[in-house]
Amino acid sequence: MNSTERAAFRFEQVSASPLETIKIGEELAALLWPGSVVALRGTLGAGKTQLVKGLARGLGIHEEITSPSYTIISEYEGILPLYHMDAYRLSGEEEFIRTGAEELFYGKGISVVEWSERVQGLIPADAVLAEIAITGPEERRVTVSYPAGKTP
Ligand SMILES: Nc1ncnc2c1ncn2[C@@H]1O[C@H](COP(=O)(O)OP(=O)(O)OP(=O)(O)O)[C@@H](O)[C@H]1O
Ligand SMILES: [Mg+2]
Repeated sequence: MNSTERAAFRFEQVSASPLETIKIGEELAALLWPGSVVALRGTLGAGKTQLVKGLARGLGIHEEITSPSYTIISEYEGILPLYHMDAYRLSGEEEFIRTGAEELFYGKGISVVEWSERVQGLIPADAVLAEIAITGPEERRVTVSYPAGKTP
């Protein structure tokens, strides 16, 4: 699955700095709904966590966002709860289920999953996909795609 195969609606933004990526994340927060799942893709250092910092800001969360690589899930209270998940170090989908992360997809909070491709089989069909590509030392291309019926 990639953004061109499934998108009913898609937008692309170029970021020239980490701060701009945070801004894109903040804007994305306004284009989600209670219970949204955001599947994040992009290589190491692409800026996935920067985007989540923006999402958190958009949800009125002032706590510092740190990478949940070891904990798998970090939970924050905002306008809606934010569940920041990272599948990078998981052994597989079973471990993701054991942590209780998958259940959170079906609650009212916003779930955002770094390295979502590692748990692809568990990502709901109506998830929003955000892909970050490294296009220069400080430049990133952020592509956000929505499936049919979930266009903002
Ligand atoms: N335009 C940009 N947007 C986001 N990050 C950028 C940008 N330009 C440079 N960077 C740098 O790239 C790095 C992105 O780190 P970040 O932790 O957000 O990546 P990640 O995709 O979450 O990586 P990981 O897979 O290790 O979790 C940071 O060091 C940041 O300063
Ligand atoms: Mg990260």
